[in-house]
Amino acid sequence: MAMKKYAIIGHPVGHSLSPPMHNAAFAEIGLAAEYRAFDVAPDELSSFMDGPGKTLDGFNITVPHKGAITRYLDEIDERAAVAGSVNTVKRHRDRLKGFSTDGYGLEKAIEEAFGLNVASKAFLLLGAGGAARAAAFHLLTSSASAVLIVNRTLGKAKALVEELGKNFPDAHAEAVSASDREALAVVAERADVLVQSTSLGLREDDPSPFPKELLRPTLPVFEMIYKKTRLLEDAEKADAPAANGVGMLVHQGAKAFEIWTGENAPVETMRRVVETALEGVK
Ligand code: ATR
Repeated sequence: MAMKKYAIIGHPVGHSLSPPMHNAAFAEIGLAAEYRAFDVAPDELSSFMDGPGKTLDGFNITVPHKGAITRYLDEIDERAAVAGSVNTVKRHRDRLKGFSTDGYGLEKAIEEAFGLNVASKAFLLLGAGGAARAAAFHLLTSSASAVLIVNRTLGKAKALVEELGKNFPDAHAEAVSASDREALAVVAERADVLVQSTSLGLREDDPSPFPKELLRPTLPVFEMIYKKTRLLEDAEKADAPAANGVGMLVHQGAKAFEIWTGENAPVETMRRVVETALEGVK
């Protein structure tokens, strides 16, 4: 059987953990397939899709193409269409279908880390960019009761809340400025789970995007970044259950793997590869 070809397409994409994670998964189940990374700048996406993209059986799409890819697709899964974001594409003959597995990855990782179901829970979401947007749409689709969006730029949080309101008229969505301490205390009190989806924490000297005084043992903290950020250190000191983004990466990848292959993903192998790779960069 011909070798199946998969890839991640993004810019930049050099540090992606998806190639080792998926290659280990293919090896584990004995599938003749390879997964590689393509660094494709925004103005190269069109020529990529007309060229090398045509040889792929499936691919992941990451920053900055999660919205732009939709114009090359023949079909989009309902959840991905609602969120306007695609991270996984599957080819069937000449047709491309897009999916979004990021939200599934987040939900599954939260269930796994904290033993809680997202339905009927209120989420405090830090950030209003692409990652926060995908999370907010997914959580409300999965029947979360509220999404309380805290962002440095209040206007961006408000715009997201307005969009959520149109799509989920029965859910509660609210925007709060990250510098409004009083409002932060109120939403922190109401939240069942905190999800960190800003880019603060990617750099070693980044401060935490959330005041440590508002953390508490009954507010689990899910950090989308893969490493121990200042927020995670603060959560530990406050005795709050806490998890980094490894589980989300693994579960979004596992779902993509299942979409492509129709086989159960070897989740523990994938997690081990990611954790080993992260150990190597410390
Ligand atoms: P992503 O796709 O990873 O979500 P993004 O769309 O660029 O990336 O969004 C980045 C998020 O991190 C935004 O919520 C951004 O806040 P603003 O909307 O105010 O820009 C947040 N962010 C980035 N740098 C930040 C900083 N230094 N302080 C606070 N928030 C920051």
